[in-house]
Amino acid sequence: MNKKKLIAGNWKMNGSLAANQALLKGILSGLKDPACAIAVCVPAPYLAQCQALLATSPVELGAQDVSQHELGAYTGEVSVAMLKDFGVRYAIVGHSERRQYHGETDAVVAAKAQRALANGITPIVCVGETLAEREAGKTEEVVKRQLAAVIHLNGHCISEVVVAYEPVWAIGTGKTATPEQAQEVHAVLRAQLKAATAQADRIQLLYGGSMNAANAAQLLAQPDIDGGLIGGASLKSADFLTIISAAA
Ligand code: 13P
Repeated sequence: MNKKKLIAGNWKMNGSLAANQALLKGILSGLKDPACAIAVCVPAPYLAQCQALLATSPVELGAQDVSQHELGAYTGEVSVAMLKDFGVRYAIVGHSERRQYHGETDAVVAAKAQRALANGITPIVCVGETLAEREAGKTEEVVKRQLAAVIHLNGHCISEVVVAYEPVWAIGTGKTATPEQAQEVHAVLRAQLKAATAQADRIQLLYGGSMNAANAAQLLAQPDIDGGLIGGASLKSADFLTIISAAA
């Protein structure tokens, strides 16, 4: 099956006008005919800047969240129409930091994914267990529950969604899941997708959690790992470029 891998950077709450310009310049100047799809998910205030800097490049623009609501009295929220205004192609939805610090439930995550899809933005839906859940042997149960919430969205096929497995204990900790640990969970997710749609093989299943220039190739070589969602290492152009070349 021929599916391009996707390498997406999640800048989280990092950056400035000057730093973003330097980072994107570094990435674009080092990109040589990339074999994979590439995106950067930037803080909302910098969408206009990054849209302009990426205009003629193969790097697509992503947001880190999107409101479940269409418009109105939701102070601080960013709507999908606003993201569309800036050429956004992807929106991360249900990142563990949103689930943990902003109380996002599976239902909210599903509503956000639904809102994004209905407006032509591809949600990157994050799932993943905490360390306590892993140690209690609940990894499979947790990721299956989180994926189940988005598997049957009204009028949309799950094949339009990108799924990212991000074990919470591996995020920003330097503790990457081993390729075998990641593949094991990806296989569980793939099987769940296969039970829901004949298009399961087309769905990009990303791994995220301390993916870096040194470990990307091994992770990306796993049969069910179709790309990466990269935090820290996406803020360094050389490291991000190395990960992109590992995704051939
Ligand atoms: P790190 O790559 O910094 O561990 O972050 C992963 C992540 O949360 C990407 O969304």
